[in-house]
Amino acid sequence: MSESPAILNAQNVHKSYRMGATPVVVLKGVDLAVREGEFIAIVGASGSGKSTLLHILGGLDRPDKGVVQFQGRDVNRMTSRELNQYRNETVGFVFQFYHLLDELNVLENVVLPAMISRSVLGWLAARHKARQRGDELLGQLGLRERARHKPYQLSGGERQRVAIGRALMNQPKLLLADEPTGNLDSATGNGILNVLETLNKAGQTIVLVTHDERVARRAQRIITLVDGKVRA
Ligand SMILES: Nc1ncnc2c1ncn2[C@@H]1O[C@H](COP(=O)(O)OP(=O)(O)OP(=O)(O)O)[C@@H](O)[C@H]1O
Ligand SMILES: [Mg+2]
Repeated sequence: MSESPAILNAQNVHKSYRMGATPVVVLKGVDLAVREGEFIAIVGASGSGKSTLLHILGGLDRPDKGVVQFQGRDVNRMTSRELNQYRNETVGFVFQFYHLLDELNVLENVVLPAMISRSVLGWLAARHKARQRGDELLGQLGLRERARHKPYQLSGGERQRVAIGRALMNQPKLLLADEPTGNLDSATGNGILNVLETLNKAGQTIVLVTHDERVARRAQRIITLVDGKVRA
């Protein structure tokens, strides 16, 4: 089997935060290539910079130095419009604490990313298809009976499945997940990992961040962050 090309390439990524006068140096030259169809886990101790790196890969934060390229395009040179599109359509995010909107029901939460990128008229034209896609995702995620529920009426595992549906809504080329099982008991967490595994088998490229070695072992490749770098 020939190796698929890298869709995401991070080279020599540096990042510090300033806490008053003292800089906190987090990333000191991270190199990482993600190939199409891969399922990668990034592990490292708490505070090692895993979330920082994931945010940089997803265009939510910028490196101080270094380059992040997605399919050959430099993420840090995108216009704000291109960057919005990158965050909304090219990548999908899943977070530890779900970040669902309690005012919206499950289906509306899932469909939201399709709405955000459109004008009112654009949305009127697209919403029927978008709802169909949302409904299909809810079916895949075993949530069809929950479509009209509000997030606060759901269990943690169900909420995370809604968040995964939302992340998949715009058919992202890359799914980024930051401790997606961190708030769940191990059986429920396993269910979420099964969902990710199934998605990956269907071709979805995934980068998952976790401090838990057992979670990381579900990925095809494990990358360890130590002292601000990828351990060789
Ligand atoms: N906005 C910020 N301002 C200042 N310091 C920050 C900021 N974000 C992160 N840091 C610091 O950067 C370091 C790396 O944080 P990061 O959240 O990336 O770690 P992590 O590996 O995801 O940890 P965890 O496993 O606990 O989630 C930490 O020391 C943290 O305190
Ligand atoms: Mg983190």
